[in-house]
Amino acid sequence: SAADKGTYPFYMLKEVDEQPVVMRKIVQEYLNEDGVPVIDQDLLETMKKADRLYIIGAGTSYHAGLVGARMFERLTKVPTQVFISSEFAYEQPIMSERPFFIFLTQSGETADSREVLVNIKKQGWPSLTITNVPKSTLSREASYTLLLHAGPEIAVASTKAYTAQVAVQAVLAKAFGMARNQQEAVDFDLKQQLGIVAVGMQAIVDSKDQLESIASRYLATPRNAFYIGRGIDWSVALESALKLKEISYVQAEGFASGELKHGTIALIESKTPVIGIITQDRTAGLTRSNLQEVVSRGASVLTIVSKHLAQADDTIVLPDVDPLLTPLLSVVPAQLLAYYTSLGKGLDVDKPRNLAKSVTVQ
Ligand code: G6P
Repeated sequence: SAADKGTYPFYMLKEVDEQPVVMRKIVQEYLNEDGVPVIDQDLLETMKKADRLYIIGAGTSYHAGLVGARMFERLTKVPTQVFISSEFAYEQPIMSERPFFIFLTQSGETADSREVLVNIKKQGWPSLTITNVPKSTLSREASYTLLLHAGPEIAVASTKAYTAQVAVQAVLAKAFGMARNQQEAVDFDLKQQLGIVAVGMQAIVDSKDQLESIASRYLATPRNAFYIGRGIDWSVALESALKLKEISYVQAEGFASGELKHGTIALIESKTPVIGIITQDRTAGLTRSNLQEVVSRGASVLTIVSKHLAQADDTIVLPDVDPLLTPLLSVVPAQLLAYYTSLGKGLDVDKPRNLAKSVTVQ
């Protein structure tokens, strides 16, 4: 069955490897021959009435929402905010007149996210759940559902659900942008780009040996590590750090690279791993200077860089793709670095201590 780990030692590795297939499945499910999104018209009509999108999620789903918000704003021009569900639930911000809610939840069962859904329904606001599990609680209770089509995700550390959440949000952002006559959404060749992503992901998962050796050289012994980036790369830095901490128990933080110098740089010691994510033209030079600042304080710097921005001594070079979709590629080496760090320490990769796949308490 799809939930059988076969010859894989852990589900997480199998699920990382499945990501190119999931991307192709999303293309097949959601884009027609001409690359036009196939999305429920009623959902789009409802979204068109909204003056602001509110994305709600927990953990990795929250991190996928951070990426999604950038796509929605760029392709639809509708202001979009992202909230951690357990925060929104107990202190609702001042709302716009006509909010539309998007719940991101792999399991569809997270209690914190459900709490928000229950509250916003009482206030009469429309909602969409994007989930991997048909008929899950949040799917049943929201006005609309879009499925991730990622197949069962068993490992506690979420991988293919994250990339599926990013890709499905890209589909919805394109569809909604087109419904709003935004030229940028029309021009965004998502079908072609997701094809490039699938090939690129395959190249990264095929470079496991390199990632395993980087993990054993740089991440096996340190107490802490940092992922840094700006903009969309910062969103991926947060997810990358979460992967590392949850399964390898290395204390990891994702940081906006410009913010390091305002405090966190005090933690850099000799050999502290700092991993820079660099995929955006506008911020590449700035993140490189921030990496220089930590190098001069003794950090061991690694880089995850898009090909067109790569320099001779970069560690991991990613295939080029549309700047809005770089998270689909930059997160994959981070998933594998976390996996091999955990594996190298002899830990139970799929069942890290203290964590549950689905959290049904608030
Ligand atoms: C748990 C899992 C995380 C997940 C989070 C949200 O904490 O361990 O991997 O990101 O819940 O889960 P959801 O199913 O709502 O995406």
